[in-house]
Amino acid sequence: MNFKKENMTLAQKDKKHIIHPWSDLGSDAESMVIESGKGIHVFDDAGNQYIDSISGMWCVNLGYGNREMANAIADQCVQLAYYTPFGAMTSPPSVKLADKLSRLTPGDLNCFQFTNSGSTAVESAIRFAHYYFNCLGKPEKKHIIYRENAYHGSTYLSASLNGKKCDRSYFNYITDMVHSIPDPNPFKRPAGMSVEEFCDLRVSELEQKILQLGPENAACFIAEPVMGSGGVIVPPPGYHKKTLEICRKYDVLYISDEVVTAFGRLGHYFASENVFDIVPDIITVAKGISSGYQPLGAAIISEKLVNRISGPSASENSYYTNGFTYSGHPVTCAAALKYLEIMEREKINEHVREVGDYFMERLETLRELSIVGDVRGIRLMACVECVVSDNEEENIAVAQRVDEFCQENGLIVRPYENLCILSPPLIIEKEGVDQIVNILRQSIIATTNERKKENQ
Ligand SMILES: Cc1ncc(COP(=O)(O)O)c(C=O)c1O
Repeated sequence: MNFKKENMTLAQKDKKHIIHPWSDLGSDAESMVIESGKGIHVFDDAGNQYIDSISGMWCVNLGYGNREMANAIADQCVQLAYYTPFGAMTSPPSVKLADKLSRLTPGDLNCFQFTNSGSTAVESAIRFAHYYFNCLGKPEKKHIIYRENAYHGSTYLSASLNGKKCDRSYFNYITDMVHSIPDPNPFKRPAGMSVEEFCDLRVSELEQKILQLGPENAACFIAEPVMGSGGVIVPPPGYHKKTLEICRKYDVLYISDEVVTAFGRLGHYFASENVFDIVPDIITVAKGISSGYQPLGAAIISEKLVNRISGPSASENSYYTNGFTYSGHPVTCAAALKYLEIMEREKINEHVREVGDYFMERLETLRELSIVGDVRGIRLMACVECVVSDNEEENIAVAQRVDEFCQENGLIVRPYENLCILSPPLIIEKEGVDQIVNILRQSIIATTNERKKENQ
């Protein structure tokens, strides 16, 4: 690009200088510049308004421009912008947040390692698992089981647990201690198999994998309650309970990756217990914990596990050398505390249970359109799958066309393969839901008509 810098637009400067996550380095396309937001809407630099039906990236739960959140962040910046969390130092917001969260988490998940993202929360959970088994004298218990189509992050280890084929291009991945098993997508079950049989098959594949590795070598199993980026895969009833039982049988730690599902998206603080009736050993969170207003994550660990390796039970010369400069950052924790206060006061979970069920009901009506193959999700975590042929490429092209029509009509949805992924801000009202579904319907119809014309 030979423009003089002073004449370049923001989009051009962006193209020149910024390496975006999950971007096509071979493409000339410039990024869309989103300049501001209000409620469920964002505005680009040309002043166009869009409904943001993806909450930024599954995270802006309270919507944009929340003054209370901004004030809490600003006040904490003035009070104490930062202090080290290393060793025996702490600051009030992280302690208050841990105390508050411990009243909301399932079971005895009362110990928090704060991080600055979901990837580092996953990374920390696994490092904890390894440390735990090393302290218990079981250093061979190292292997991690994950699922095809999973998404767990972008640090080296968390990325090695991503099960989407398209995410594995020219990078390297850890291969010696990570192992995948098939995902539990009932939509893709073999013909003639009942959902119950399919569930049992998927659960037995976990057990087989543990036995193949040897239970003495298997450290943990990591699973999203509802697989998000992999296509909003809701497992068959009982899947999580049964996989947890298998893990318990072989002393394999169960890590529930709730980076997307926690803090309201499914109408509860945590999906593990309230939606799927399980209390895992570790839960990882990020994104919605601060409504995306500040970067914060956490590995939330069972107190029973922590007690087995700390205090009088700590191993000789053991030292927990895991954590970040910004673990428990006062400003991010103040943002999370404010979000939790607003969630409680505004009854966000109750609201999501009502508006989220309405959202799914309205999306279900799209099944009558010929190119819609599946509609799935729970409450404000949903996707519409386009299927026009057995050729995946063709299906993907169709879904991308739907997304383009949506954008032209003022709606941002997240395109992933042949899916339109939807996760609007939790404050959305029924009117906003109707707008999303109407634009999506029009866009699917426009795509169908365009295809008909092309095929004539
Ligand atoms: C389930 C899950 N885990 C982990 C991550 C990684 O989070 P981050 O991008 O904050 O590192 C994501 C991000 O989308 C996610 O969806």
